Amino acid sequence: MKTYLITGGAGFIGSNFIKYIFRNYQNVKIVCLDKLTYAGNLENLKEELCKYKSDLIFIKGDICNKDLVEYTFNNYKINYVVNFAAESHVDRSIIDPEIFLKTNILGTQNLINIAKAKWEIGEQKYIKGVKFLQISTDEVYGSLGNKGYFTEKNNLKPNSPYSASKASADMLVYSYYITYNFPALITRSSNNYGPYQFPEKLIPLLINNIINGKKLPIYGQGTNIRDWLYVEDNCRAIDMVIQHGKTGEVYNIGGHNEKQNIEITKILIDTIKKLVSENNKYRNVLNTNISNINYKLISFVKDRLGHDKRYAIDSSKISKEVGWKPTLNFRNGIIKTTKWYLDNQGWLKSVTSGEYKNYYQNMYSDR
Ligand code: NAD
Ligand code: DAU
Repeated sequence: MKTYLITGGAGFIGSNFIKYIFRNYQNVKIVCLDKLTYAGNLENLKEELCKYKSDLIFIKGDICNKDLVEYTFNNYKINYVVNFAAESHVDRSIIDPEIFLKTNILGTQNLINIAKAKWEIGEQKYIKGVKFLQISTDEVYGSLGNKGYFTEKNNLKPNSPYSASKASADMLVYSYYITYNFPALITRSSNNYGPYQFPEKLIPLLINNIINGKKLPIYGQGTNIRDWLYVEDNCRAIDMVIQHGKTGEVYNIGGHNEKQNIEITKILIDTIKKLVSENNKYRNVLNTNISNINYKLISFVKDRLGHDKRYAIDSSKISKEVGWKPTLNFRNGIIKTTKWYLDNQGWLKSVTSGEYKNYYQNMYSDR
């Protein structure tokens, strides 16, 4: 039996990862520690909280809280920590960076400090098999020009308060490995997309706006490039890094799917138009006339400050050393994702209306 401490497990990637682990392993216990910020939604784990009652423990709280993190280690025999908890949205970090520094840097420092203390059995020695995986991002490498790819050897050159906070956390985690031989690993993935993503991020925001016939705000000229990765492919990579990765190493995870934002926008308009034309079930979801779903919805708006031009990942290291490759191509991934949002209008409406905030209170009315 292995026990995972998954922080940020009520968010987008964290909840997908918890589902992935329960689908693929039998003898596991998961302790999910999540502060339930605006981005955390316990409804994402509704099925798992019912189905795996005794093997999924939810703790509402902050990774910066020393007593709570200590309590968690004292009460559960944690083998793996997977630290997803973060403030994750670049635009928010440009408006108000402070919480990014608190959660992403000080929160990570609190976790590694306590994990080190609880796992250490002598100088630079730890309980056998324990691992701390820091979930980082390709954004720590900064921005690329038209050519080249990020490799793990690139210097860290973060450009936004968000990516600067993630780079700081990476450096802290690495310093614990060098100084204390702390059993840490780091993954840096490109842009994820898929079910349960908060609709402030490009893909779910566009899907929601298209369904409702609203304008699609595209920053600048829409020529910035991201390397899109289906979230389940990332979850499989993270799992493989925990099982087969080497401590002290960084692994890049990319989708080999570079697309300009304007291309993504047009693909989503075309995909939704096709799905609703072919299927009455989807047409009924539309909150606008089908004839309104066209490129006229695109609205070029003021560019993001310090907007990184291009991200593209070289994932040959994880492929060679861990045996991972992405499996889903972008066309199939985007159809799957679009259908999920069309099929889960209840989820989308609860998030956009703010109703999702009541889910925790209703579920844990005794706390
Ligand atoms: P998200 O914003 O959807 O979820 C973050 C989760 O962390 C939420 O459930 C939130 O409630 C929780 N949280 C925030 N502050 C907390 C705190 N102080 N204590 C405890 N919990 C807290 O984020 P995501 O998109 O799922 O990203 C997860 C991780 O992956 C982040 O570390 C992010 O930097 C990284 N990442 C994301 C992407 C992406 O494309 N989404 C790509 C690469 C890396
Ligand atoms: O690369 C990994 C990173 O991907 C993660 O570390 C971050 O947590 C995650 O949020 C994501 O960051 P981005 O800034 O790349 O994602 P976002 O969805 O915010 O934006 C994607 C691109 O779309 C980016 O070039 C900005 C642009 N954009 C975004 C929004 C929200 C628009 O043009 N219009 C929008 O309304």
